[in-house]
Amino acid sequence: MHVCTRHRWRGRPARPANPSRREATADYLVWAKPGRRADTDPVPQVLCPVLVGRDEEARRLRAALTAAGTGRGSTVFLVGEAGIGKSRLIREVTRTAGESGLAVLAGRAVAGGAPTPFRPFAEALTSAGRAGRLPSSQELGPFRPVLGRLIPEWRPPQPVPGEESPVFLGEAVLRLLRALAPQAGCVLVLEDLHWADQETLALLEYLADNLTAERVLCLVTLREAGYEQGGEAAALASALAARGSAALLSLGRLGPAAMADMTRACLDAADLPAAVHEFVAGRAEGIPFLVEEVLAGLIAEGTLAERDGRWHAADLSAPGVPATFADAIRRRLDGMSAESRRVIGAAAVLGRRFDWTLLGPVTGLADPAVVAALRDGVGLQLVVANRDGFRFRHALTHEAVLAGLLPPERTMLAGQALAAAEAAHPDLPGAWCTLAADLAGRAGDAARAGALLLEAGRRDLAAGALASAEHTLTGARGLVGPALQTSVDEALTEVFAMSGQVDRAIETGRMLLARLGPPSPRAAHLHLEIARAAIAGARWAEAAASIEVARESAGASAAQIDACAAQVAAGRGRLEEADRLARAALRAAESGHEGQRAQPEVACEALEVIGRVARQRDLEAAEQAFARAADLAAAHGLRLWRLRALHELGTIDQLRTESVDRLEQARELAVAQGALALTATLDLQIAARLNKQFRADEALAAARRSADASRRFHLATLPMALIFEATAHAIRGEEGPMEDRIAEAVALAPDDQDVLGCAWGHCRATFCLLAGDLGAAHARMTTGAGLLLSSPATIAPPFLGLWPLLGALLGRDSDAAAARVRAAHGTRHLVVAALIGYADAVCAGRPGGTAAAESAFDAADRQMGPLVAWYRQYARRLAAEAALADGWGEPVAWLREASAYFAARGDDRVAAACRALLRRTGAPVPRPAGDRDVPGPLRALGVTEREADVLRLVAQGLGNREIAERMFLSPRTVEKHVASLLVKTGLRRGQLAGYSAGLDG
Ligand SMILES: Nc1ncnc2c1ncn2[C@@H]1O[C@H](COP(=O)(O)OP(=O)(O)OP(=O)(O)O)[C@@H](O)[C@H]1O
Ligand SMILES: [Mg+2]
Repeated sequence: MHVCTRHRWRGRPARPANPSRREATADYLVWAKPGRRADTDPVPQVLCPVLVGRDEEARRLRAALTAAGTGRGSTVFLVGEAGIGKSRLIREVTRTAGESGLAVLAGRAVAGGAPTPFRPFAEALTSAGRAGRLPSSQELGPFRPVLGRLIPEWRPPQPVPGEESPVFLGEAVLRLLRALAPQAGCVLVLEDLHWADQETLALLEYLADNLTAERVLCLVTLREAGYEQGGEAAALASALAARGSAALLSLGRLGPAAMADMTRACLDAADLPAAVHEFVAGRAEGIPFLVEEVLAGLIAEGTLAERDGRWHAADLSAPGVPATFADAIRRRLDGMSAESRRVIGAAAVLGRRFDWTLLGPVTGLADPAVVAALRDGVGLQLVVANRDGFRFRHALTHEAVLAGLLPPERTMLAGQALAAAEAAHPDLPGAWCTLAADLAGRAGDAARAGALLLEAGRRDLAAGALASAEHTLTGARGLVGPALQTSVDEALTEVFAMSGQVDRAIETGRMLLARLGPPSPRAAHLHLEIARAAIAGARWAEAAASIEVARESAGASAAQIDACAAQVAAGRGRLEEADRLARAALRAAESGHEGQRAQPEVACEALEVIGRVARQRDLEAAEQAFARAADLAAAHGLRLWRLRALHELGTIDQLRTESVDRLEQARELAVAQGALALTATLDLQIAARLNKQFRADEALAAARRSADASRRFHLATLPMALIFEATAHAIRGEEGPMEDRIAEAVALAPDDQDVLGCAWGHCRATFCLLAGDLGAAHARMTTGAGLLLSSPATIAPPFLGLWPLLGALLGRDSDAAAARVRAAHGTRHLVVAALIGYADAVCAGRPGGTAAAESAFDAADRQMGPLVAWYRQYARRLAAEAALADGWGEPVAWLREASAYFAARGDDRVAAACRALLRRTGAPVPRPAGDRDVPGPLRALGVTEREADVLRLVAQGLGNREIAERMFLSPRTVEKHVASLLVKTGLRRGQLAGYSAGLDG
């Protein structure tokens, strides 16, 4: 038997060690100091040795832990007021986790004016580093450099552009967690997220959405919303809970029975005077932390004492016992020497967690006196010491100490603390900068506080922490003097431009320009920044105006100006101008013109425009330009530009053939590089193209991938991804799901003309078109086009071409429609241009202009080429109807081909419409696909007509790709048919040919 010295208090007999008690206090290395007088006697530590009244909660957490160990990870938010026992519950549960080999990482957010980005994660991962658990770089591959944002030792020498998205970082953290404990799994504890920065919350959201198949349990503590800031974290918690990505565990106050249990457990007593229970219940109000505090206060004052193995209470109604927590703290402070009080007050000004080495300079005391004061603070349960240094025992303790200082005391201490911090850390690295700003503010030096926040904001901006940068710089704006106002607004403009807040970027930039006065290089730079924001928002006129001003100012880089101007020209469809400007930019950027350095990023931008222009007419040249940009970007480590170039390369082949293979390769590359936001964009484009080819199943899958990712990472792609899902449903004839997706998209982007326009002109119109209701389809396209063309069109979906064509056939005002589309540069899209060409043919044929109609038809047919077979065949089907009526062209041949095409694809309603038209001509009508016979034995096996067709081609020795081409199907659809044949016949592929030959023979 040995004595448990940690819990010995005055007059208390030694008692046997209590292992659970020792565990519970492992964090708090507090030693009683016997023999001191009662007024300065340390308050004994009262920590409840057992967990009281949380059986159900503990059971749920343990179950989550066990599940995580078997690869079914989750996130749990423990929510409740301060001191309710969130951290304690986690400590209890993770203790057993540690025993079963799980890695436990913990980090917390801290209170303060401007939160440090990613602080909780940084702390958690650093703790893993300290435990020697960090995996080797090989395991993390391309994700290692981005983790440098959290783990300083891993920071690459150069910042990595294009990797600031929460997606990439989230994926990196996920991989790191996976690598930390591949077998047993790990627990990530993130404490006090009501104080967390937005970056931390975004990262947490990503993790929470992606833990289901991981061996990771993420435990988050959060004070109830409304108690302090906490609003955003609380909103995240409920959003995650609503979509099943996290569970909420709400900790309430303890009931009377649990309070009594806890009081007895704290005092290690089987029973206690009823008055003690009553007193504790009245003061602590069900909050475990206050139970401990109230008891500690009673013992310290001698009101509660242990004699002969029993606890005795003096008069508990006497006012000597603190009635509130703040009183309790004040009394403890009053019991300290004036020197010690000063030290503890100074510590409180430095924050809940503080660097004790600053306390000497702040208070003017020598180190031994400071250490003695800290010892007092620890003894009095105000401060705790652990591996990482000192902190106030509880947030409430810290707040109470701070509140106990007189206002002038606080001001003075803050000024001295600022001076000490600056002397100790001249560059104010990391969180020191925001702490210094906070101190300057409290010391009454608003201008200095503002200047420091400006510095902190610029650092956030450089690190890509845009939300924090915005928060910090907005704070700075209200504080800085006139001299720095401009710098703050410049930084804010950049933050807005980079984060896609186009209006705010332009507004701030303009306001700033008004202040800057006469033209200067600084103003020129700002004009370009505004132009970039406008380009991002497709506001070409505004962009152009800003570029013009920049061009007239001295000192701006001509290459940069030209590259920006080229983007604008391309956006407006002025391709020649775009090309000329981009080439000028390229020359200047590559040669390091005008005594400036070479600007590879400007060269990449220029090449991108050159390629995009060339793509309209010369795919070889476009490919060369994009390939050159990719090489240049690779050579200069410009990862964002490299991916952009590769992505453009991926679009090239898609234009050459109907395949989306290259685009899918680009997607795979983006996934491998961890550029998941770009992956979502690529999926969106893949979905768009597949829809254009009416490959609805595959389009739906790609659109869903894009929508899921967009939802998870708050990407602007979400509404369009939903619209593409809706389009795929329209093609499949599923009106209900189509409308659901549209409703979701419109709710997200109620003012987005592109979204609304496509909902009508693309989704709903396609649904009507396939149902054979051409009038309704045209009406919907009219609505859609009206919306889409009400502002300069940023997209040009094929329906913009189909609209005039249908109008021509139905005798609606087709010319005006075509003119509107042309004026909005919709015809830059080849499909649109070609469809309008068919419309021209129909119009020309009406007054008997046979030759004009036929030549317009041929031109359109050539222009459409083999790119978009569905639209080509459908255009022919529409043109044939007009040609039949007006007597021009070769409608019978067109209809035959179209009907075969649609029948082969399974678009039976369109095929039937073609046949109906053919019938009108008196020409022989091919039988619909379904009438053809499936050989009896095959029919018996349930083989469908389409599968039988595939089987015939397999028998001819064709590969899937060739069969796909022959049948106008996607290779994947063919694969599906073959797979189905193998199942139904029970044969292997090699055997199919012989089997089929046998049947036909
Ligand atoms: N169920 C419990 N049984 C016994 N002791 C408890 C219980 N809950 C909390 N305590 C004790 O109460 C004190 C406060 O608890 P804890 O620090 O976990 O609160 P918290 O909810 O994390 O507060 P904060 O929001 O301030 O971080 C601790 O000393 C803890 O040991
Ligand atoms: Mg806590």
